[in-house]
Amino acid sequence: MTDTLAPGKPAKLIIDGKAVDAASGETFTTWNPATEEPICEVAKAGPEDANRAVQAARAAYDSGPWGRMRPAERQRLLWKLGDLILEHADEIGRLETLDNGKPIFESRQIDAPMVANCFHYFSGWATKLTGDTVPVNPAFFTYTLREPLGVVGAIIPWNFPMIMVGWKAAPALAAGNCVVLKPAQETPLTAVRIGELALEAGLPPGVLNILPGPGSSVGAALVKHPGVDKITFTGSTEVGKQIMRDCADTVKKVTLELGGKSPNIVFADADLDAAVRGAYNGIFYGKGEVCAAGSRLLVEKSIHDEFLAKLVERAQKVQPADPLDPKTRLGALVNESQMKKVLGYVETGVSEGATIAAGGKRRPVNGKGWFVEATVLSGVSNSMRVAQEEIFGPVLAVIPFDGVDDAVTKANDIFYGLASGVWTRDVKKAHLVARRLAAGTVWINTYNFYDPGMPFGGVKGSGFGRDLGADSVREYSQVKSVWTSIE
Ligand code: NAI
Ligand code: MG
Repeated sequence: MTDTLAPGKPAKLIIDGKAVDAASGETFTTWNPATEEPICEVAKAGPEDANRAVQAARAAYDSGPWGRMRPAERQRLLWKLGDLILEHADEIGRLETLDNGKPIFESRQIDAPMVANCFHYFSGWATKLTGDTVPVNPAFFTYTLREPLGVVGAIIPWNFPMIMVGWKAAPALAAGNCVVLKPAQETPLTAVRIGELALEAGLPPGVLNILPGPGSSVGAALVKHPGVDKITFTGSTEVGKQIMRDCADTVKKVTLELGGKSPNIVFADADLDAAVRGAYNGIFYGKGEVCAAGSRLLVEKSIHDEFLAKLVERAQKVQPADPLDPKTRLGALVNESQMKKVLGYVETGVSEGATIAAGGKRRPVNGKGWFVEATVLSGVSNSMRVAQEEIFGPVLAVIPFDGVDDAVTKANDIFYGLASGVWTRDVKKAHLVARRLAAGTVWINTYNFYDPGMPFGGVKGSGFGRDLGADSVREYSQVKSVWTSIE
């Protein structure tokens, strides 16, 4: 397999085991948000390519090797892909940083190992998906089979381009499905590279297809295609709603992860230094372009001013810098429009009556790039737009509260329900508050931790279904009931 990402060559689509051009012959440019320069051309998939990829996936599933393969062999191949991702972690990490603007510290040290972990962890599930024998009636032998769904379409966003390949493809493949994955147009490169490594690992043609291209054409075609059994989506609320509507026509299963505005709650009895670090990492990790970002910081009134001062001091110390420098902790936002959206929200906050306590401005690095300072807005009330809407950038809204009931009321008074954080030394309070929070994840005295074994997903407007964990494997499989008359 030749590396389609060799310098000067356009990145291609991966369809049916081959790196190919788009049927239309069209390409698009992917950009480096830190330098505003083009990285390379990428084949631009369209509806015809969606159709080709779905047919290849169907063939691999319905009549090809994947559907008939022993689970232990599937396990071996997925494990091997995990190994190959680790071996190529430097290369993949660098590609991710060039394409997305996130610090190399994150893409090399955290994201690449996480993708490998996903393939390693989920490979083990291939051999552990069992049905039941059910004691219904002595006249029957009755049992269930746990079977794959068939072909899964995965549509992923630009904020964690390689991690999302692991989160979506690893459990779907482990459960025995074939996958057609569409990366975001802003950040296609690591998905294409992982698609190549999958072929190197020995995944048969058609099992994992990668289609970079626009959501409105190739993405929508995948969602509407009758040969696709399920769509798993992470991205914006608006597109998620459209996908759910489009899935209705072919009665497709759908999983949606639609972001959030997650409350990170600091009680007065918390370890304040640890909570400052947690509040900081909760919003500024990944430039705040993180669906689970702790973007609403709820601080108990009695410690509010002291806590804000410590947090502001820390935020002012960290300036955006070259994402390829291993010391950098704040990179460039993914593109100009995201930067404008984020800066627009800072203005909105000020016009609503909030105060900029730290940051608030664009700050180019070497005169270039879509960098924004680590920004803290204080004096925010929970009803303001900057408290209710997903900004998706390094902007934190600080909201005071008074006691447990007020904290829980404010935390839950929102459309979203993805994640949440609780900082306290009181064990009872921590777990009682965890039960009362309407969120798919609660972090207690920590924030932003993930593991392939722990399910992740939302409630309320943040969507439904789960990535990761045993739950995700169940969502990529279904039960069949078998009745045998033995009389
Ligand atoms: P988006 O929701 O448009 O993109 C996510 C994925 O969906 C991409 O692969 C895109 O090509 C695809 N897509 C778009 N329209 C589609 C359609 N009609 N059918 C099928 N697939 C389609 O997100 P976008 O525009 O990149 O970002 C807009 C805002 O969404 C951000 O500012 C942020 O607030 C939020 N967002 C949230 C994410 C999360 O993880 N919750 C991730 C990315 C964005
Ligand atoms: Mg890019």
